[in-house]
Amino acid sequence: MKQTDIQFDQNGLLRHFLTIDGLKRNILVDILDTAENFATVGTQQVKKVPLLRGKTIVNLFFESSTRTRTTFELAAKRLSADVLNINIDTSSTSKGESLLDMLRNLEAMHCDMFVVRHHQSGAAHFIAQHVSPHISVINAGDGQHAHPTQAMLDMFTIRRHKKDFTKLRVAIIGDIMHSRVARSEIHALNTLGVPEIRVIAPNTLIPPATDSMGVHVYHDMEQGLKDVDVVMMLRLQHERMQGALLPSEHEYFETYGLTSKKLKLAKADAIVMHPGPINRGVEIESAVADGPQSVILEQVTNGIAIRMAVMSMTLGRQKSPEGNAT
Ligand code: CP
Repeated sequence: MKQTDIQFDQNGLLRHFLTIDGLKRNILVDILDTAENFATVGTQQVKKVPLLRGKTIVNLFFESSTRTRTTFELAAKRLSADVLNINIDTSSTSKGESLLDMLRNLEAMHCDMFVVRHHQSGAAHFIAQHVSPHISVINAGDGQHAHPTQAMLDMFTIRRHKKDFTKLRVAIIGDIMHSRVARSEIHALNTLGVPEIRVIAPNTLIPPATDSMGVHVYHDMEQGLKDVDVVMMLRLQHERMQGALLPSEHEYFETYGLTSKKLKLAKADAIVMHPGPINRGVEIESAVADGPQSVILEQVTNGIAIRMAVMSMTLGRQKSPEGNAT
């Protein structure tokens, strides 16, 4: 079954959020608009709305995370849900319990949602195929496959600064090959109508299927950055690299690191993005990461609103008495 099919329930409502690949523009816009409504909750005196009161959400992070795990937890709490953070290292999986047995036990506790990060591509999809019908699964990053909520929070950040996706030139720079973020960003940017998506990287960090991804490939920062509206930097994902793909981090920074000088090639009002964690002096200079064009910390803040939107749309699905989706 295609991942886009499994994401919807029998009423055509979003039940799981596993990938952006194949989702229609109206779903992405709906997520962005819903997140816009949640964006001010964090600035209220009482940072809570009652939408998911009584629901139980489980964070299952099999891989390390700072931003994604904590913003999912905050998003759930701001929707008034109860949250369980499972410590995988001290869970019974370390005693040989299988993933599915662990899930069956969590289901027996009447949980409603699993938020899953896993080093294996396809893990969230596998879990979604095996859970009970009332449970929703959100992919919080699987291997080098997809990181859909990261892409959506990045789209939210771009829309707030640039308004119209159909007039933009976007450059994604760095380790495209191993990046689940890049894959999800490219799907989202294409679906939202961005006419020019550039990827800039050495040949060793460009995936083989780039031709079918709807992007223009550049190996030269000077050419690739020229007149872009959005500059998205990526970390070198050493944990997923097999063999030596780069001469050295120093040489990489010289050629592909974003410096104030190189940033001048982009439009004067270009924004600089990075999903984090950032490696200063490897892919980005501190003066740029902390500079006036950087929206890196805004991305983190926006992650809460986007995750609230996705959780409320998937867990808060309702049918009217006539059977029509409300
Ligand atoms: N962007 C992102 O996924 O960051 P974390 O690994 O800290 O969650």
